[in-house]
Amino acid sequence: MAETETTSVTVLSGKKRSGDEHDPMVGKKSMVSAASTWDDPAAALASSRHEFGEHGGVNMSIEASATFTVMEPDTMRKMFAGELGPDRDFYIYSRHFNPTVLNLSRQMAALEGTEAAYCTASGMSAISSVLLHLCTSGGHVVASRTLYGGTHALLTHFLPRACNITTTFVDLNDLEMVKSSIMEGRTNLLYFEAVSNPTLAVANIPELSRIAHDKGVTVVVDNTFSPMVLSPAKLGADVVVHSISKFISGGADIIAGAVCGKASLINAMMDLHQGPLMILGPTMNAKVAFELSERIPHLGLRMKEHCNRALAYATRMKKLGLKVHYPGLEDHPQHELLKSMANRGYGFGGMLTVDMETEERANKLMNYLQNCTQFGFMAVSLGYYETLMSCSGSSTSSELNDEEKELAGISPGLVRMSVGYIGTLEQKWSQFEKALTRLQDSGLLKNA
Ligand SMILES: Cc1ncc(COP(=O)(O)O)c(C=O)c1O
Repeated sequence: MAETETTSVTVLSGKKRSGDEHDPMVGKKSMVSAASTWDDPAAALASSRHEFGEHGGVNMSIEASATFTVMEPDTMRKMFAGELGPDRDFYIYSRHFNPTVLNLSRQMAALEGTEAAYCTASGMSAISSVLLHLCTSGGHVVASRTLYGGTHALLTHFLPRACNITTTFVDLNDLEMVKSSIMEGRTNLLYFEAVSNPTLAVANIPELSRIAHDKGVTVVVDNTFSPMVLSPAKLGADVVVHSISKFISGGADIIAGAVCGKASLINAMMDLHQGPLMILGPTMNAKVAFELSERIPHLGLRMKEHCNRALAYATRMKKLGLKVHYPGLEDHPQHELLKSMANRGYGFGGMLTVDMETEERANKLMNYLQNCTQFGFMAVSLGYYETLMSCSGSSTSSELNDEEKELAGISPGLVRMSVGYIGTLEQKWSQFEKALTRLQDSGLLKNA
């Protein structure tokens, strides 16, 4: 009995609870490098705080608790009043803040060069929380015509019905159209993807941000297709959202998301009375956060190889006469723009598209690529080490109607490829060529 009491006292006294002398940002179980000016996502990640494990482990411990104790009853009141918080190592409940999720959030903020970030259970929960936070009932969004189908459906169907928030969809290349669609005093935000899903159009982030800011409108950019390659917040965007489920995870085994932006935005989104992250509860599990925080340090290496392979395939596919679309090719309409915005040394992205013109031809090609030559898998999503292929019009963009797809530039035979890095480049390329030969032999392909 006495032993039990001693143990419990030791455990509790080991916890920081007095709230005055100890600064968790420089605690002995963490290491912070001197702040440096942000010029590269990998450098920023390496300079961000490294959290050690409870017993000195090189990896941080997982804080699996849903709830946290206090030493004095009054501490609880202070935490709920916002006088004590995670910045001083005071935690209430893991739907609010959790140390392990916060560690991943710090990595995401370093990656995107923002003051703060908050990680969520999915990319869609990050996106919907931001939209619900920044728009008021009766509000208005100006958004790109070419968006991931789920986001398009959220803006087209869900938000008007549930919240009376409407959207005007625009062609991002038409800056006049963007400008004239923003209604000063009514439009809450401009929303687009840095590299669009699935058409791989590259947004002119500095110019679009300037237009929006001139009219007092907040800019939200989805950077799911281009982590490391582009840093939208450094190019003028106010908020960056991610589906971490893709390149950042890299394992095709986790669904997760993040909101990156100013600390004031993240704190407001956590408000006990008004904050959607707190009230709607799109909470990430601490065990998931731990898994992801172990993958972020090699994201830069993975992205470089995704990009190298994608450029090599795109170049070779083009030589074969295929209708390939890749922002790293000089004939891509925004190739120069991407070069002017991209962080040096990562490449032009790990996604490419091949337009097979008809769904039948697209399906046949993917079938040969998966089932005859093992080039890749027919699957949605992206950022996996294997190549993933899907016919966008009938899958991840099926939420768009035919007219919307046409306006977005999504042909019925558009095959989107997330280029993997497994195997050798020549091994994989020969698998691609073999599949293409089978397609030619079937009589379905004439021009390649
Ligand atoms: C560009 C983009 N944003 C957001 C999402 C949604 O992310 P999640 O599936 O993690 O909810 C996706 C999913 O495919 C996407 O492609």
